[in-house]
Amino acid sequence: MSKLWGGRFAKGTDALVHEFNASLRFDVRLAEQDIAGSQAWAQGLVGAGVLTQEEANIIRDGLDKVGEELANGRFQFDPADEDIHTAVERRLTEMVGAVGGKLHTGRSRNDQVATDFRLWLMGACDEVRDMLTDLQRALIASAEANLNLPMPGYTHLQHAQPVTWGHWILSHFWPLVRDQERLAQMRQRTAVLPLGSGALAGTAFPVDRHALADALGFAAISQNSLDGVSDRDFAADFLYTATMIGLHLSRLSEQLILFSSSEFGFVRLDDGYSTGSSLMPQKKNPDTLELTRGKSGRILGNLVGLLTTLKGLPSSYDKDLQEDKEPIFDAFDTLSHTLPIMAGLLRTLTLRPEHMAQQLEPNLLATDLADYLVKQGVPFRQAHHLVGEVVQLAENRGVALTNLSLHDLQSVSEKFGEGVTAVFNITSSLNGRNATGGTSAEALQKQLEAAKSVVVV
Ligand code: ARG
Repeated sequence: MSKLWGGRFAKGTDALVHEFNASLRFDVRLAEQDIAGSQAWAQGLVGAGVLTQEEANIIRDGLDKVGEELANGRFQFDPADEDIHTAVERRLTEMVGAVGGKLHTGRSRNDQVATDFRLWLMGACDEVRDMLTDLQRALIASAEANLNLPMPGYTHLQHAQPVTWGHWILSHFWPLVRDQERLAQMRQRTAVLPLGSGALAGTAFPVDRHALADALGFAAISQNSLDGVSDRDFAADFLYTATMIGLHLSRLSEQLILFSSSEFGFVRLDDGYSTGSSLMPQKKNPDTLELTRGKSGRILGNLVGLLTTLKGLPSSYDKDLQEDKEPIFDAFDTLSHTLPIMAGLLRTLTLRPEHMAQQLEPNLLATDLADYLVKQGVPFRQAHHLVGEVVQLAENRGVALTNLSLHDLQSVSEKFGEGVTAVFNITSSLNGRNATGGTSAEALQKQLEAAKSVVVV
């Protein structure tokens, strides 16, 4: 096997070591970016006086052909191809002859791989952004369709206060807005060009790095060649962002799993998004949601793995850095499955308002009862205590809060008057919370508009 770097070696690489060292198996995904980066570099070498324009054109056209072979699956890999960079250069030289050997002037696979990887990730960020946006649209559509549908709200998974379906489903929308922000910010940090850093000490040829950045769609160039080849912060940033997206999907999944259970029965999953049991004929399982919840752990694992790989590394390139790609690819692939599935699941979800209504029990209005006393001039702390006594009274009698007579209520506090019955109403409870972010029809409409206005169209 002939290696790019074989000159100083008296004998070939042990077969197992070659296998161990090679990254082609996974970095073949960087093919398109490797071709684009090399074409830009060839043009840069013209500016630096290394290549004539004619030579650069030959290289550019040759790389186009290599790219075509790779894209249509006709590319013949050689057992000696260590990674995508060596494979592309080897094939180019086969095609265009000796001029192909000039391409790597002033460049190293160290700045090359960092460039390819960043370029790939910039594209991946755009894809994740679009998938997230689609999921956000699905959440908004669900909210809009049942904006004011009352359902119990929970803290500690115990009945707390009434909310609405629109309010609840939008509580899973806003986290994704923050994810979009994180994604945009990390993409910006990714769009810094390392090409021109050489192996570690910069390039000895006067290549215009700003022109390279422009040609490849980078917003800035790296300022230190040692940092340029070793910086993988952008990869960790992506994995943290992906972890947060996974975590948000996991929480939504968890809650939908609960809501689809027989005990809650608030929603019914579409058959297309559920699976059955091989043994129990009646079963309809929320496997898609469980997998989404489960896969969030895998994304976090990728983040922890990469950070652990990076933490002990000196600046400049070390082969450990080759371990950066698989966790990113895996996280991206995982999101590429889960995000569209979640959007589809939401778009086909059936709500069961009658089951939600069954759970809208009077204790959800206990806070409203305390607020009523506050409006009669009772300090809240005292009102809270008094209503606690009312709840206890109802419990002792074995009746609902709403079934206590005015006389019963007045036995606890004389501040209870005729108007108290108006409190026992879910709609007025919802509408009473009119501040931004609350449950009133007006506040919910405003929230919906706000949600629509932040979704990138
Ligand atoms: N396959 C390598 C990687 O992914 C490319 C860089 C190799 N550089 C080197 N000095 N061996 O990191």
